[in-house]
Amino acid sequence: MTVNYQERRARLAAMLPAHEVEAMLVTSAVNVRYLTGLASSNAAVLIRADGSALLVTDNRYIDKTRGLDVEAAEASDVAGELAAPGVGIEAASMSVATYHRLGAGLVPLEPLVERLRAVKDDDELELLRTACAITDQAFADIIRTIGPGVTERDLARLLDARMIELGADKPAFETIVAAGENGAVPHHAPTDRELRSGDLVTMDFGALYQGYHADMTRTVSLGEPAAWQREIYELVAQAQRAGSLAVLPGAEAKQVDAASRDIIKAAGHGDHFRHGLGHGVGLEIHEEPFLGPSRTGRLEDRVPITVEPGVYLPGRGGVRIEDTVVTRGGGAELFTKTTKELLVL
Ligand code: GLY
Ligand code: MN
Ligand code: MN
Repeated sequence: MTVNYQERRARLAAMLPAHEVEAMLVTSAVNVRYLTGLASSNAAVLIRADGSALLVTDNRYIDKTRGLDVEAAEASDVAGELAAPGVGIEAASMSVATYHRLGAGLVPLEPLVERLRAVKDDDELELLRTACAITDQAFADIIRTIGPGVTERDLARLLDARMIELGADKPAFETIVAAGENGAVPHHAPTDRELRSGDLVTMDFGALYQGYHADMTRTVSLGEPAAWQREIYELVAQAQRAGSLAVLPGAEAKQVDAASRDIIKAAGHGDHFRHGLGHGVGLEIHEEPFLGPSRTGRLEDRVPITVEPGVYLPGRGGVRIEDTVVTRGGGAELFTKTTKELLVL
């Protein structure tokens, strides 16, 4: 796969005149990777308005710059090498200490690369599709092991190991497994609690594949669900369908959120769904754009985003259902394909 990094840099360069800078110093590691292909914990790239660029990294990574389509140089103080008065910087990622150290005249800019990264090219969509396919397959492969006596931590370990066996670099984030009452905590960390008949079990996990992050959540029932469990499951599933249908190019971020949230509110559970509906995924697990009641902006075409409503009942349990979907043409393409029927195990 040949990624056209030069074209990505040209798109950023074209944005600079409107921000009244001749050049931009990119210091966020993930943004440097996006613009050059270099994955490094200590690198910076200067993008000039004419489209030319200079990548700087330290001695540990300099060999990895050979073969990249960008001029590269070695320095230990990578940002210091490129900083100069009038150069734009990434205000969201540079520390205040570095900003002061580099001297006066730098121009803090809004997150321009993040805005570019929201819209994915074909290569990126293919990597994300693979990340999601690994995620689906891992779930299918471990489902037979979900049962009484298995702990949350056991299940998380099984999912993580299976994703890696299937080709993931590693899990895209710390896998969540939440059984019974723990399901009321949206980002519960797995414990030694054993699964029991009567539990709803929420699993939130995803594969990282060649830098791209999948994100999926499924909630299953151990044994026949009680009426209240089936009721909140069907409610969340309905809200998840409505939210997914609202994902399309041109849709307003807050309207997509409302499509899902209004259904949960109408059922009297508005206070039990207190996080945003979703977020972009790509080189980071949480990236632009974000879906929530106070989010602004509209979705563009080719934007991967999660749709993840939940209902969380303190002390009792919860349900979350999450897919990764991508705006395409007149609607959205589903990337995580595992069934959303309530599985009774
Ligand atoms: N797994 C983290 C999230 O769903 O946002
Ligand atoms: Mn998730
Ligand atoms: Mn998510």
